[in-house]
Amino acid sequence: MLVSYKYHLIGSFFLTALFFSGVTNAEKSAEQLYKRLCIACHGPELTGSFGSSLVDDEWKHGATDADIAKVIKEGVIKKGMPPMGRSLSDEQITAMVVFIREKGKAASREK
Ligand code: HEC
Repeated sequence: MLVSYKYHLIGSFFLTALFFSGVTNAEKSAEQLYKRLCIACHGPELTGSFGSSLVDDEWKHGATDADIAKVIKEGVIKKGMPPMGRSLSDEQITAMVVFIREKGKAASREK
């Protein structure tokens, strides 16, 4: 009884933490996910290295949020862009698109 209560407490603590980190820090967590999953190919400033630049406002696979989300989810396997749909939820992909847009806006302001 005591044990299951303890697990329940721990479980709800994690759920609450997950919930808040998801809702209030969507963009921050997108940045962390970017660092974990994308930086190797798209570079620390998103300007590209092995992968293409994500901040030059040129979109090979379409410029809408939905197009970009689709590339992230399904990848462009032949060109070396891995599909991320298994590592990222749809919400995380949406947050990633927002993160890329913000970085793109910042890059075009610097020009
Ligand atoms: C193994 C290397 C690699 C990783 C890791 C990677 N990408 Fe890519 N990505 C590529 C390559 C290469 C392309 C260019 C595909 C092409 O030329 O059609 C690309 C293309 C893209 C495009 C389309 C750009 C356009 O012009 O339409 C987006 C958006 C994108 N990546 C986002 C991401 C995100 C977000 C992540 C992390 C979740 C990520 N990529 C991880 C290699 C990678």
